Amino acid sequence: MSQSLATVAYLGAAILFILSLGGLSNPETSRRGNVFGMVGMALAVLATVFGPRVSTSGIAWIVVALVIGGGVGLYAAKVVKMTQMPELVALMHSLVGLAACLVGFASYVDTSIVYQGAEKAIHEVEIYVGILIGAVTFSGSLVAFGKLNGKIGGKPLLLPARHWLNLAALLVVMWLGRAFVHADTVGAGMLPLLVMTVIALLFGVHMVMAIGGADMPVVVSMLNSYSGWAAAATGFMLSNDLLIVTGALVGSSGAILSYIMCQAMNRNFISVIAGGFGSGAGAPAAKGAAAEPQGEAVPISAVETAELLRDAKSVVIVPGYGMAVAQAQHTVNEITRTLRDKGVNVRFAIHPVAGRMPGHMNVLLAEAKVPYDIVMEMDEINDDFPDTDVAMVIGANDIVNPAAQDDPTSPIAGMPVLEVWKARHSIVMKRSMASGYAGVDNPLFYKDNNRMLFGDAKKMLDEVLGALKA
Ligand code: TAP
Repeated sequence: MSQSLATVAYLGAAILFILSLGGLSNPETSRRGNVFGMVGMALAVLATVFGPRVSTSGIAWIVVALVIGGGVGLYAAKVVKMTQMPELVALMHSLVGLAACLVGFASYVDTSIVYQGAEKAIHEVEIYVGILIGAVTFSGSLVAFGKLNGKIGGKPLLLPARHWLNLAALLVVMWLGRAFVHADTVGAGMLPLLVMTVIALLFGVHMVMAIGGADMPVVVSMLNSYSGWAAAATGFMLSNDLLIVTGALVGSSGAILSYIMCQAMNRNFISVIAGGFGSGAGAPAAKGAAAEPQGEAVPISAVETAELLRDAKSVVIVPGYGMAVAQAQHTVNEITRTLRDKGVNVRFAIHPVAGRMPGHMNVLLAEAKVPYDIVMEMDEINDDFPDTDVAMVIGANDIVNPAAQDDPTSPIAGMPVLEVWKARHSIVMKRSMASGYAGVDNPLFYKDNNRMLFGDAKKMLDEVLGALKA
């Protein structure tokens, strides 16, 4: 393939990636967005493999790598459960970081292209920054993976004077960078490069270890952004325009998503970047800690729930992590259809960090074919709770916790929440009085107008559906 054809293919791929991101911003166009992304990536891979910079003898190696990598990816995508998706994403980010490091070292020891003067300095800065971001992304993502799948505890690790440690690491990295760029030979530059890599790896571990379990979603999105910048840095090293554009797209969209999530959790974006996140006085308790009873939580049966729903004019359903665990989305859709057939106005309220990954609930509801037009974002529906007859909370906890508004000492104080307690009746469906991800008690359970429907969400919803149809 000629250089000009490869450039046109790269341009086409870049446009498809932009269209893909545009499509993914809305549930109705997200399938199309995915297709654009897949076609763009296929085009990019083909243009690279058959492009002018790959020798014919090298193609066989690339095909072998593609088959192995593609096979592992296909297998992982098939076996991963939806609730494990953030772990998989974190693992993928770590691979991007590792790739940036390996390309950086390979690029440095590669003597086939000789750089001189300013060009040499620029190339070496690209290598240094690329390996720096790549190493932070690699080790940080591995720790995030460990925290998300429970292999590493969710509690933030707070080393004494950790901000000073980070600052000292930054200064040493800058000093080593100067030594690296001024090195005359590859041998002389290798030592500062290796020492910086070790510091960057340790920094990645330290940064993510210092973050509380409840704040992990922002970190995963932030590492997503870092992986984009690592890819962009790789693009600079390899003089590959498409990699630069794609990396910048991932880097900036990840940063925007992190910002939106910070707002949804009332966190400070700058402190996330600095790595001292979620580690203040109100650090969340260990995952799964049981809530302290603070009054009486009144249970309700499935039949009574069905009666309340049948008599209601407007119902708002708030899905959370438990709905995903129970895989109750199809029954939720059946109940929605049944109630709508009876003339009840049913809508869904989606909190930006409901579940365990951005858009988690939207994906599940779309899979169950819940109509998009009744699925509302938090800001669109929060003011409607006072006019709602029944707010039905399905396996959600932190996102409906009034302590976020009422208790300034709560670890989740200031986090925007869905104000279900303002509805005439609220029903919380969960198996026990246990706390949610943030490990904090939920005063909603003890409110006068709240009832607890205890049990597995799928089982209880099946019973409610049966009673509704009876
Ligand atoms: P959580 O606060 O984690 O609460 C989920 C509740 O579901 C639990 O209290 C649990 O109570 C219940 N549950 C679990 N399995 C169930 C089942 N089979 N049937 C019925 N209930 C079940 O979830 P949320 O309200 O969706 O809030 C999300 C939390 O996760 C936030 O703290 C957020 O910061 C964090 N987080 C979010 C993300 C993203 S990006 N969305 C990523 C990581 C973490 P029982 O054990 O009593 O049943």
